Amino acid sequence: MVGVKIDGKIIAQSVKDRVKKAVEELKAQGISPCLATVLIGDNPASATYVRNKHKACEEVGIITKDHKLDADITQSELTKIIDELNADSSVHGILVQLPLPKQLDEFTTTSRISPLKDVDGLTPHNAGLLGMKKAALVACTPSGVMEMFDYHEIDLEGKNVVLINRSNLVGKPLYHLLLEKNATVLTCHSKTKNLTELCQSADIIVTAVGDRNKFKLTSDMIKEGAIVIDVAISRFQDKLVGDADFDDIIQKASFATPVPGGVGPMTVAMLLKNTITAASLSSQIGR
Ligand code: GUN
Repeated sequence: MVGVKIDGKIIAQSVKDRVKKAVEELKAQGISPCLATVLIGDNPASATYVRNKHKACEEVGIITKDHKLDADITQSELTKIIDELNADSSVHGILVQLPLPKQLDEFTTTSRISPLKDVDGLTPHNAGLLGMKKAALVACTPSGVMEMFDYHEIDLEGKNVVLINRSNLVGKPLYHLLLEKNATVLTCHSKTKNLTELCQSADIIVTAVGDRNKFKLTSDMIKEGAIVIDVAISRFQDKLVGDADFDDIIQKASFATPVPGGVGPMTVAMLLKNTITAASLSSQIGR
């Protein structure tokens, strides 16, 4: 059996079309949705991601403000910039691109962002609300993965899901989103024993390791008809690759995402959606 390729570009476009309409409606109410990005240092991958985010905003009519900061900025200088963006009523969403240079603390930085402008869903407030099924702003990659399941009408109820990631950006929020849909979720990580066996028993595998030297998912590690969502992206032998060998996996899986062109475009599309949500939230509280 050859499975269905889940095309992130097509699904992302359908999200963007909806966002574009929402932008027009907000503009008709006098609100011009605006996303501020903060990029620290000169990590080329991060610079590319931020550039793609700006381009996508432009496509749907979201205004962007671009803050490029020196790699050696101090925590207190960064905090001051975040505070200014929090206080700026023309800015609806704030995204600090991760990872941060070593001298900066990720928790101190992300938790400084106003929860109403937290388009990454990383503040303790929004991460906590997600655990209680009340979040308005959810991390973009996990909500993008859920959008992919939705688009293909994949029923998650009672499914055994193996998640290979436990980060705040991917694994933890995705755990809650899948649980909300009544899936049985097992979160795996670098210390998990018998990972291959766990994968072989899973109905759905969501993998986000991002290092082909450490982990590669192949068809012998999945069961017939499994669904494979590959969140990882890294450079390996001069090519952009995910964790899974797509051409091999798709021979056995019922659905799988390619890399590139899978989850990546969804992350950007959900960022646009979160920016619209943040702009609506700000209008509801009169800012
Ligand atoms: N770095 C990699 N993915 C992300 C993301 O979704 N948000 C932020 N802020 N940084 C990232």
